[in-house]
Amino acid sequence: MHHSALLNVMIAAARKAARSLKRDFGEVENLQVSLKGPANFVSAADRKAEETLYAELTKARPGYGFLGEEGGIREGDDKTHRWIVDPLDGTTNFLHGIPQFAISVGLEREGVIVAGLVYNPITEELFIAEKGKGAFLNDHRIRVAGRKNLADAVIACGLPHRGRGDLALGLRETGAMQDQVAGLRRFGAAALDLAYVAAGRFDGYWERDLSPWDLAAGIILVREAGGFVSDCDGADAMLDKGSVAAGNETIRKEIVRVLKSA
Ligand code: IPD
Ligand code: CA
Ligand code: CA
Repeated sequence: MHHSALLNVMIAAARKAARSLKRDFGEVENLQVSLKGPANFVSAADRKAEETLYAELTKARPGYGFLGEEGGIREGDDKTHRWIVDPLDGTTNFLHGIPQFAISVGLEREGVIVAGLVYNPITEELFIAEKGKGAFLNDHRIRVAGRKNLADAVIACGLPHRGRGDLALGLRETGAMQDQVAGLRRFGAAALDLAYVAAGRFDGYWERDLSPWDLAAGIILVREAGGFVSDCDGADAMLDKGSVAAGNETIRKEIVRVLKSA
């Protein structure tokens, strides 16, 4: 398939970072048995992947700004463009040898997300989207699922855990949702959760306490797959509030309604 120059840059950078992540993931399995576990090793893998992405993206597009989970903000001369990058989304999965993690790269132009890539180096599933040009999984066009009833829907979510999120609110919201849906899933990588909504695997998804790098690429994937994305209150402030609700328009609205009732 013919990709735009921009997507080619993003894909090349992600594939390069993926090679080292994949090697390191193999290594993690060997470290599992040690008492301390592979935690330090994994944070080094994470930083190394971000540096590869920064180097490759900046080489191809000098001057673009860069916001990465590990290195924070790196200003560029071009104030209209900014990469938003999570080099390893799904760290807990990675750390436990669970192959559900991804590289996430979004590009913002004047505050609007115009391109996104989510890549799982283990399954080699590459999700890409560019504004106005549709969303693709390994070069096949993807669409959000068409189901309209929560009762038939499989919905993904995040779950508060030790040191993170509002447990009482989380319990109320998951409780309310569980009562209405065909199935609830917690896969542990927000970028892939959104990519799976784009691909019609999940009918919908919501989560709170996220960061821009968890969301940027996934948002454009869902929108370009014909889906809708808002924050958990139904507004358009996902990156500012760090919350997200996604699906086709009916399911997204239903998710927001159930969350409000919780
Ligand atoms: C996390 C994952 C996870 C979500 C967390 C995120 P990380 O990102 O996306 O699914 O529930 O809140 O922080 O830390 O693995 O990059
Ligand atoms: Ca993340
Ligand atoms: Ca991360």
